[in-house]
Amino acid sequence: MTEPTFRIEPHATPVDAGTRAGMLVDPGFGRVFTDHMVVINYKEGMGWHDARVQARAPIQMDPASSVLHYAQEIFEGMKAYRTEDGGAALFRADANAARFARSAERMAMPPLPEPLFLESVRQLVAADRDWIPGQEGGALYLRPFMFASEVFLGVKPSSEYLYMVIGSAVGAYFKSGTPTVSLWVSADYTRAAPGGTGSAKCGGNYAASLLAQSEAIRHGCDQVVFLDAVERRWVEELGGMNLFFVFDDGSMITPPLGGTILPGITRDSILTLARDMGITVREERYAIDQWRADATSGRLREAFACGTAAVVTPIGTVRGADGDFRVGDGATPGELTLKLRTALVDIQRGLAPDKHGWVEKL
Ligand code: PLP
Ligand code: COI
Repeated sequence: MTEPTFRIEPHATPVDAGTRAGMLVDPGFGRVFTDHMVVINYKEGMGWHDARVQARAPIQMDPASSVLHYAQEIFEGMKAYRTEDGGAALFRADANAARFARSAERMAMPPLPEPLFLESVRQLVAADRDWIPGQEGGALYLRPFMFASEVFLGVKPSSEYLYMVIGSAVGAYFKSGTPTVSLWVSADYTRAAPGGTGSAKCGGNYAASLLAQSEAIRHGCDQVVFLDAVERRWVEELGGMNLFFVFDDGSMITPPLGGTILPGITRDSILTLARDMGITVREERYAIDQWRADATSGRLREAFACGTAAVVTPIGTVRGADGDFRVGDGATPGELTLKLRTALVDIQRGLAPDKHGWVEKL
C-alpha cells in the first residue's frame, strides 16, 4: 500500500450524545470504548492492504490463528487530549510509530510503515473525536495493535497479520484515590532478561508480569517493581511504567535503557523537561538496597513512576521480602514530581508552549 487511504464505514448506530456524556464523567481506565476501530490487513506477497475505519465490533478468529498459540503480538499506548480551545491533540505519536516498528522487528513481524500508523491513529481520532473527555486527567487512550492471524500451528513468523486501532475514554489509571502509590518488589519473578523482549511492547511481556502483579496486589500494593534478571539487584521498571528518583541535592536518576526495559516516551519527555529546568538527570543503574538506604537516610526525596496510562504518579511506599520503606512521608507527592507532571500535562493540553514540537493538533 503506497498511499495511506482509508475506507470509512461509519457506525450504523453510534452511542447517542446523552449516553456518551454519562459514560465520560468517570470513565476509569480501559472499560469505556468508542464507536469505531481501524483495521488493516497484511498478507505475504500483498503487503498492507484494505485500510478501513469501521464500526467497533467483535472479530471472528479461527482457533488455529497463530497468535492464540505463540503470542506473536505487539501493541502501543498513546493518548489524544482535549485542548483548552476544545480541539484535539496527539502527543509524540511519531515516537509511538517508531517504537511500534521496532517492536515489530523484534517479534519477526512486518513493520507497518510509520506514515500508515500515524494516519490510522488520526483517522480513529477524527471518527471518535466526541469521545475525548474534557475534564482534567481525562483523555482518549489509543491502542494500536497487531497480531499473527495465519491459520497454522507450525512455529514460524506468521504470513498474515491484522493491525487494528481501538480507542477508550480514560481517567486516572490508579483508582486507589490516594495521592501516592505503593510498590511491591518482586523477589521471585523478573520481567526481562538480556537478549529477551524487554524493550519490545509485546503482549507476552505483560502476560509474564501478571503473577508478580497479583503478588503485589496480594501484599496490598498497587504495582510490582522488577529487578534485573542477572544480579537481582538493579531496579528496572514497573509492570507498566518507568521510574525516576529525586535526591536531596536536586539531581535525578532513571534506570538506563539496556534492552530489558521499555523505552518509555513519557520517560524520554521527562528527561528532556528536567534538563530544560536545569536539573542534573542521569541515566544510571540504581540498586534496591541503595534505594532502601537512601529513602531511610533522607538522601532520596522523591520517587515517581511515569507512562502514558499513569502519566506521572508519585511513589509513597515500597514493600518486599527484605522489609518495607517509605519515600518521604509516604503520603505526600514530591514537589519536583508535581512540577514535572504539570509541565508535561500543560504541554499535552496546549496550556504551555510546545518547544520541542511534540504536539500535533487535529
Ligand atoms: N514500561 C512499561 C513496561 C510499559 O508498559 C509502559 C507503558 O507503555 C511504560 C514503561 C511507559 O511507556 P510510555 O511512556 O511510552 O507509555
Ligand atoms: C501504557 O501506559 O500505555 C501502557 O501500555 C501501560 C499499561 C499499564 C496500560
